[in-house]
Amino acid sequence: MARHGGGMRGVENEDQIELTKEQQKEVRARSLKLLFSLIRPVKLRLVLSFVVVIVSQAFRVVGPMLIAFAIDTALPAAIKNDMTPLWLSVGAYLFAAVATGSLISFFLRFAAKVNQDVLFDLRNRVFVHTQKLSLEFHEKYTSGRVIARQTSDLDAIKELLDSGSSELIAGVLYMIFTAVALVLLDLPSFAILMLSLIPLAFLTRWFQKNTRLNYRKTRVASAKLIIQFVETMTGIRAVKAFRKEKRNQEVYQELTEEYRKVNAKVIQLFGIYDPGLISIARVAVAMILLVGGLRVIDGSIGIGVVTAAILYSRRFYDPMEGLAMFYNAYQSASSALEKISGVLEEEPTVEEAANPTPLTEPKGHLEFKDVEFHYSNGITVLKPFNLNIPAGQTVALVGTTGAGKSTLAKLVSRFYDPTHGNLELDEIDLRQISDVELRRAIVMVTQEAYLFSGTVAENIALGKPDSTEDQIIEAAKAVGVHEFIMSMPEGYNTDVAKRGGRVSAGQRQLISFARAFIADPAVLILDEATASLDIPSERMVQHGLKTLLNGRTSIIIAHRLSTISIADRVLVMEHGEVIEDDTPAKLIAGSGKFAKMHKAWRDSLI
Ligand SMILES: Nc1ncnc2c1ncn2[C@@H]1O[C@H](COP(=O)(O)OP(=O)(O)OP(=O)(O)O)[C@@H](O)[C@H]1O
Ligand SMILES: [Mg+2]
Repeated sequence: MARHGGGMRGVENEDQIELTKEQQKEVRARSLKLLFSLIRPVKLRLVLSFVVVIVSQAFRVVGPMLIAFAIDTALPAAIKNDMTPLWLSVGAYLFAAVATGSLISFFLRFAAKVNQDVLFDLRNRVFVHTQKLSLEFHEKYTSGRVIARQTSDLDAIKELLDSGSSELIAGVLYMIFTAVALVLLDLPSFAILMLSLIPLAFLTRWFQKNTRLNYRKTRVASAKLIIQFVETMTGIRAVKAFRKEKRNQEVYQELTEEYRKVNAKVIQLFGIYDPGLISIARVAVAMILLVGGLRVIDGSIGIGVVTAAILYSRRFYDPMEGLAMFYNAYQSASSALEKISGVLEEEPTVEEAANPTPLTEPKGHLEFKDVEFHYSNGITVLKPFNLNIPAGQTVALVGTTGAGKSTLAKLVSRFYDPTHGNLELDEIDLRQISDVELRRAIVMVTQEAYLFSGTVAENIALGKPDSTEDQIIEAAKAVGVHEFIMSMPEGYNTDVAKRGGRVSAGQRQLISFARAFIADPAVLILDEATASLDIPSERMVQHGLKTLLNGRTSIIIAHRLSTISIADRVLVMEHGEVIEDDTPAKLIAGSGKFAKMHKAWRDSLI
């Protein structure tokens, strides 16, 4: 399907090491587009901050000029008892100093605010967008990568924005203004300064070349560290169960060692670049002093001019280090922007209809018409089939691992659309139903039974956000979990804080049943929803399950055949096909697959 290919474009680009020219162009265009869309809302403020920084740097550069005037003109006048020029130059110097200080302070705070607003915007966009994307995206794009987009990539952009970019603009402007001031003040000093730019250019180029490589290495090393850390911590149970700690520790140590090494390299490079920079600057100052001194003896210039030239050239190189590093920060930020723009470019593959057909009173009649399905890898998972599930029927879906049961459930809950054919609820194509109505009509409970941080009551109320306390308790009672909840430390107000923290897997499932009950959907899908329950709990739920399923269409996927006893109809699936379809009694009496499964299961009970 065209949409499959087109929708995942950003992801595929990222996996490729070498991009073609066309793709590079596309990636650049897409990240520029994102950049412009981020800047647009802060455009005016950017212009204002640019004006402020220009004025502040102009004031800053005036200082030495005033000193030259004070020494060469005002001081001789003062000696002749005319204090006015000295007062004037001191006053002007103070004014320029105060103006520079306050403008720079304003600029830095203002620019920081603008930067933070841009980051805030981007951070939210990434979150909202990734959350909105269809399950297809999330099953493909690992959570580690999603985490990287939201953390290290955003950090790279943040680093560029707040460390330096504003100081850098100020620094570059300062260099330009200083050069202009020197031209106006004293050409020979300017010439010496320009000569010193030659060794500086060589040194900076060397520095840049080496840092670029190492800087990239530090980012790769830190990404590896994050991935290793996330993987270890998310799989902490498996780590402990298989005593993988030692090996993990070794791997982690190797990675930190690598990280330490590349960082040390970068610092070493600074250890050469910084002294080099200072030496070149000092030699230039010495030459300006020497040449200037000779010209003062000549009488061709005043001491004040030499003093100012020295003041200028001494600080001329200050922004250089930041400038040399800027390129690196810029590179990693732009590659981060490319990756983020890739995610933002992704479109939900399961789209909401523009003009949905209203579904006011869902009854729960499901019909698969010539439905076929494959995931984006193209391998057929469900072969073309027709299936009619009348409203109110309880259907058990059984079959071997990998037969396609969960996939069928994902189609019914519209996490995916069929790649061919239609799936209808009450004669309306699922694609034509609005998201809100669809989620209200069809609820799927999975084995995962995720609980969000919050209280038990809040977690049940997720099924129906406006539910009252009584309704919550009623739902819990209906599915038979009220007693269990009351036995928890704070009953319904117990905080389930962490996943698996205080509530066991089975208890989570019990709570999620209450959540499904309160939602009161027309169609309920239970995908291995009782898998974590022990036999007594399952018995207890069995009773609750009857209440839960009463009056609605339900599809139960379970390996434990005891759960299936309440079904009106059993579908046996194998290799993407429904191979048996009848009432449980008839199938058991027959000689098919289900009869065998049932016999094996009964024997196991003895
Ligand atoms: N996101 C996916 N992308 C590609 N293939 C998938 C994806 N999810 C499942 N599959 C494949 O589809 C087939 C059916 O998987 P499904 O999860 O529907 O099986 P199942 O019947 O629910 O199995 P089980 O009893 O183990 O839960 C499997 O071969 C599986 O590898
Ligand atoms: Mg499954």
